[in-house]
Amino acid sequence: MKKVLVVYYTQSGQLNEALRATLAPFENNTDVSIHYENIKPIKPFPFPWRYMEFCEAFPETVTGVPFELQPFSFNPDDNYDLVIIAYQAWFLSLSIPINSFLKTDDAKKVMMNKPVVTIVACRNMWINSQEKIKVHLKELKANLVGNITFVDKAPNLISVVTVLAFVLTGGRGKFLGIFPKYGVSEEDLKEAPKFGDIVLKHFKTGNYTDQQKELVDAGAIQIKSNLMLLEGRASIMFPIYSKFILKKGKYQDPKRRGRVRSFGILLPIGMLILSPIITIVSRMAPLFASKRIKVDIEYYSQNSLRE
Ligand SMILES: Cc1cc2nc3c(=O)[nH]c(=O)nc-3n(C[C@H](O)[C@H](O)[C@H](O)COP(=O)(O)O)c2cc1C
Repeated sequence: MKKVLVVYYTQSGQLNEALRATLAPFENNTDVSIHYENIKPIKPFPFPWRYMEFCEAFPETVTGVPFELQPFSFNPDDNYDLVIIAYQAWFLSLSIPINSFLKTDDAKKVMMNKPVVTIVACRNMWINSQEKIKVHLKELKANLVGNITFVDKAPNLISVVTVLAFVLTGGRGKFLGIFPKYGVSEEDLKEAPKFGDIVLKHFKTGNYTDQQKELVDAGAIQIKSNLMLLEGRASIMFPIYSKFILKKGKYQDPKRRGRVRSFGILLPIGMLILSPIITIVSRMAPLFASKRIKVDIEYYSQNSLRE
């Protein structure tokens, strides 16, 4: 019997829904055994978040500071045929629990020389976090052979409002009765098993050569140029501001509270100003940078790191 290890972390369960829908074809297969490892930080992150707690997690998320985790239930000496990492992006980076997992010795043991598939469920910005996971996997000597993404398809500023309402209240209904429901749509969840079918097909042969191309053709990756440009700008600024906060103290140090608060003010302002500007620029970009955009979209749709 072939074995799959699935490592995931979710707060509201949204990621879990996308994960389970994708893996339905594996679940229906009696020749496969799946071990689900739900990563649990020793000190859980709140859900719903208070806005200051949410901002407090920013510097550690962006700079990749690992947090302590509860012991894992998988045996790191087991020989898995495939490892699946299902994660959500936090501040254009890996969520702290998943980043912390990737930094453990057990992750190294269990993932070395193994094929890995990533499944992302987030608001709409995962490009930078996926680049970060590529770096981790390279260090762990694991082979990234597939990436499947699920996003909220509402316009960017709408989903900024609905994700904040969602993570700060925990409610998934229509915010104020007028905004669309946050998150991955029911239709996208219904389509998810087709990605699982593709992975299962390659898993059975152990040959993953064409897997990502097939996933992309099936719609597993949809990159919008405005979001790619916006993420590119923000991913330069986030590490600078994180270090600025970290200079004042570590996680939850009261000495850094003023700087964390200033981030909390600047983040929505920056989004409100930058998002429309970049959307306009990206609409015009095909006039002067269409080749560059096409090359970047192709690059972020595949699994290796830039030289
Ligand atoms: C602290 C924090 C930061 C987030 N940052 C991003 C982000 O940079 N990009 C993104 O697309 N979504 C972001 N999100 C949304 C999450 O990716 C995810 O959709 C949401 O937290 C629900 O996931 P879960 O309940 O499965 O954990 C963020 C959420 C949190 C809590």
